[in-house]
Amino acid sequence: MSLLEVHDIHAAYGSSRVLFGISLDVAEGECVCLLGRNGMGKTTTMRAIMGLTPPSSGRIVWKGKDIAGQAPHRVARAGIGFVPEDRRIFAELSVRENLDVAGRAAARPGRWTIDEVFKLFPKLVELSGRQGGYLSGGEQQMLTIGRTLMGNPELLLLDEPSEGLAPLVVENMLEQISRLKREGLTILLAEQGVDFSLALADRVYVLEKGTVRFSGPAARLREDTKLRDELLALSSA
Ligand SMILES: Nc1ncnc2c1ncn2[C@@H]1O[C@H](COP(=O)(O)OP(=O)(O)OP(=O)(O)O)[C@@H](O)[C@H]1O
Ligand SMILES: [Mg+2]
Repeated sequence: MSLLEVHDIHAAYGSSRVLFGISLDVAEGECVCLLGRNGMGKTTTMRAIMGLTPPSSGRIVWKGKDIAGQAPHRVARAGIGFVPEDRRIFAELSVRENLDVAGRAAARPGRWTIDEVFKLFPKLVELSGRQGGYLSGGEQQMLTIGRTLMGNPELLLLDEPSEGLAPLVVENMLEQISRLKREGLTILLAEQGVDFSLALADRVYVLEKGTVRFSGPAARLREDTKLRDELLALSSA
């Protein structure tokens, strides 16, 4: 059964329309990727799910219940955690304090503690006293994911986790997200990085100008380089 079903959503920023009927679904334990170039609607789709940019029409069904238009804190409490692409951590607070604040605000009780986050991202242990503003991009990304996990989400929305990171750091991030997946966490990922997404995803939706251009198993895109080139050439047009 699908945990999340998005049916034909439309969304706009003011008078500028950006989503034109996006439909997708995510089953429990799946890793699904929204793939697409700049400005195709990946972030807006995630913001619509979170209630940050409510859709003007369409349905967003979470565990059988329509949550379209609900306030973001209610969506979080219902079990959806969002890791935004701009990594909003508290620059003046230390790594530990950032996690602590997230723990206090935790949407739901569950397995995640600061120690569990440190187990997933051992690098953060040695940085636990450092202010958020003095972390590298990769370290900030780990902290942002850690903060969201502290809310014990059942579905993790990860917006471009590899963006702006050096290749070696991307490799690490890939391994850590794979670990979350192996543990059974359900993940919806937005990415421009084709290799990164195909390494993680079970299924892929290729977005183009606010619509779904292709959907199918990630394996199809891994095997069929011609199809991959066609889709990505199209989506960059
Ligand atoms: N706050 C905003 N106000 C107006 N237009 C916006 C706003 N945010 C995004 N847009 C526009 O909406 C469209 C979709 O943007 P969105 O951020 O969803 O794309 P994306 O696929 O996440 O791109 P990227 O890979 O660059 O993050 C783009 O044309 C973008 O310019
Ligand atoms: Mg984006």
